[in-house]
Amino acid sequence: MKLLAITGFMFLAATLAAAAPVFKPMSMDFPQDAAGFPDGPNVKTVNQNCLACHSSDMVLDQPLLPRTAWAAEVTKMRNAYKAPIGDADAALIVDYLAATHAPP
Ligand code: HEC
Repeated sequence: MKLLAITGFMFLAATLAAAAPVFKPMSMDFPQDAAGFPDGPNVKTVNQNCLACHSSDMVLDQPLLPRTAWAAEVTKMRNAYKAPIGDADAALIVDYLAATHAPP
């Protein structure tokens, strides 16, 4: 009886050891998505105001647009989507977009 118990225990221990998960270090490649906007004039203001609701890709994937179109876009974010952006910051953001993402 005692022998049976010992053998039983050893069997259980061996099974548990075999079933124990083996954790291996692994690495993953996440999709590339810029953490913020590329450097440019007023980039800090842009990062502070334009990343709350969507990534910078939402902006950078747009075609190159003239300043007036960017101004309209920033106005749309403020009016249609209620982005809490003041007039002064909005002007700085339009300057950035016109400087970095407009046709030559
Ligand atoms: C309050 C949330 C909010 C903030 C802050 C915000 N956006 Fe948006 N933005 C949106 C939403 C919502 C959409 C539409 C998403 C969709 O269509 O899937 C959008 C879409 C866009 C688009 C795609 C074109 C379009 O008109 O739909 C651009 C470009 C854009 N935003 C630029 C900006 C810029 C520049 C800023 C900073 C001034 C900004 N957004 C800040 C909510 C925001």
